[in-house]
Amino acid sequence: MDTFNNDVIVKEIKGRLSIINLIESYTSVKKSGRGFVGLCPFHDDKNPSMHVDEEKGLFHCFSCGAGGDIFGFYMRYNNLSFPEALTELANKANVEISKTPVKPKDNSSVGLLYKLNKAALTFYQKTLALKEKGKAAREYLKNRNMSQELIDEFSLGYAPSEWDALAKFLAKNNIPLNLAERVGLVVKRKQGGSYYDRFRDRIIFPIKDLEGKVIGFGGRVIKEEEQPKYMNSPESPVYSKRRSFYGVDKSRDFIRREGRAVLVEGYTDFLALYTSGIKNVVATLGTSLTHDHGVILRRYTENVVVLFDSDESGIKASLRSLDVLLEEGLMPRVVPLPEGEDPDSFIKEHGVEKFSELIEHSESWIDFFIDRTLNRYRGGSLTMNQLVKEVSALLIKVESPVERSLNIKKASEKLGIRENEILSYVKHGTGRGKYGGSKTASYSSHEKLLLTVLLKFPTLSSVISDKNWQEFIENQEIKSILEEIVSGGVHDVSNLLVHFNNQTEQDLISEFLLSSDGITDIDTAANMLESCVRKLKAAKLDGRLKALRLEIDRTVKDKDQIAEKRLLKEYSDLRKQK
Ligand code: CTP
Ligand code: MN
Repeated sequence: MDTFNNDVIVKEIKGRLSIINLIESYTSVKKSGRGFVGLCPFHDDKNPSMHVDEEKGLFHCFSCGAGGDIFGFYMRYNNLSFPEALTELANKANVEISKTPVKPKDNSSVGLLYKLNKAALTFYQKTLALKEKGKAAREYLKNRNMSQELIDEFSLGYAPSEWDALAKFLAKNNIPLNLAERVGLVVKRKQGGSYYDRFRDRIIFPIKDLEGKVIGFGGRVIKEEEQPKYMNSPESPVYSKRRSFYGVDKSRDFIRREGRAVLVEGYTDFLALYTSGIKNVVATLGTSLTHDHGVILRRYTENVVVLFDSDESGIKASLRSLDVLLEEGLMPRVVPLPEGEDPDSFIKEHGVEKFSELIEHSESWIDFFIDRTLNRYRGGSLTMNQLVKEVSALLIKVESPVERSLNIKKASEKLGIRENEILSYVKHGTGRGKYGGSKTASYSSHEKLLLTVLLKFPTLSSVISDKNWQEFIENQEIKSILEEIVSGGVHDVSNLLVHFNNQTEQDLISEFLLSSDGITDIDTAANMLESCVRKLKAAKLDGRLKALRLEIDRTVKDKDQIAEKRLLKEYSDLRKQK
């Protein structure tokens, strides 16, 4: 990516678009003091905790910590990568970027790929409606309780049982087949170089992004004996399955409204729930739940009900998803289905009422997790010690302190182990939640101050650049931001955010930038920096001394006199330094 050109374009766009205007189109904000406040769209906000600073061009939520500039907001809200956000915001701002391509190889054709997908979808939809050719597929959908209304709402289609019906259709419409190959709609023959259709004789489930643009397809056989049962579009410039949910373009408002999302495994489970009136549903796409999925869900709600198949792989997937969900600050519950059922088959057999009851009686994640893990303990494949460790690794990720202690209590009761003992695992565990108490604990107040001052006065970076600063900064995100500033790559802090596509870093930068108002005088700032450096060095030294004392104790116990002598020397040298 051409960083320089990007910087110029970013500046231009920021000059033309107001962050208030942009944010206002997603959530209502009102004036408060010098800035604006509004309900934060990135967590379930009850009181307005998102602050917007028009002058600095930044937003920051004091509750969930989300923050950034217009790009950060737009990317997060719409689930876009930076180049995608750049393209769309440039459009809104009427800034020309075609002469300075963001991604020389891809960008020019990304728009075409969406169009191509749309054209293919139209073909599949038309084929489903054909009197003869679409008959078996329509029968199939009817047997599965999928109404015409549902078919229309979700743009379901049918790929005919021919080798190159789509390829011919595209060619006739002057759509280059090598483009179709890039989104995996057609495959090139090894011999002769002609193309054939990937999806043949299959029901087509289009996968759409939040704006309803077609990014990929899932195809299901209509004859049960055919293999594989499902085929999906491969990853492409417009489709990333680890960041996509099926149906979320339709269901996200229901999720927001209900304050809860129901997470299922498949297309047909999604549609069965949706058509039964349970519309706050999302489905992953033939992949297990990823952290990216967790981040996306958290924009809409904190509460997720996991509803996977009841087979062994479904249970495993449920357990794994708890880990991801807790880590992303969500509060999962689990609905265990009877053996051999999936959501779709359960509704078909027992009706919607029974199904809704199941959802209402979902288990808390801790009950589900401990019960399943206890089975492994009883089966002898896990010791109690390992079990407590596994539970603690999850407990540590629970964001709310109240929830965490309630769950520790429950774990203690269920396992017959004293709370204090579990607590000691939770305290010393290695798993670190993104949220939870660990967020503020992960950097020291002096690390924060140091970065805040440098964000305000980047030219002062010379104060730390010759001081081996990498050695006394512990927090990795702060370190990488400082590296960017010290390396001189940043002349203009308002553009700094663009250099990070990691949300944690964006959050930190905007939080610190907004708290830098009190620092106004450059000489005072320089003094503050010097003092931070001293304090951080001293803290680092103290840590090292403490570790040395422990090592020395050990050498004394082991009667390892050579090592003891060496360590004592190091200890006294360090003391002198101090
Ligand atoms: N899947 C896939 N490839 C497969 C099998 C499954 O991508 N060969 C994905 C699909 O997204 C599917 C989900 O995993 O929707 C769940 O698979 P499964 O439980 O086997 O299918 P069902 O959703 O039950 O589909 P159906 O009811 O149509 O049999
Ligand atoms: Mn099924």
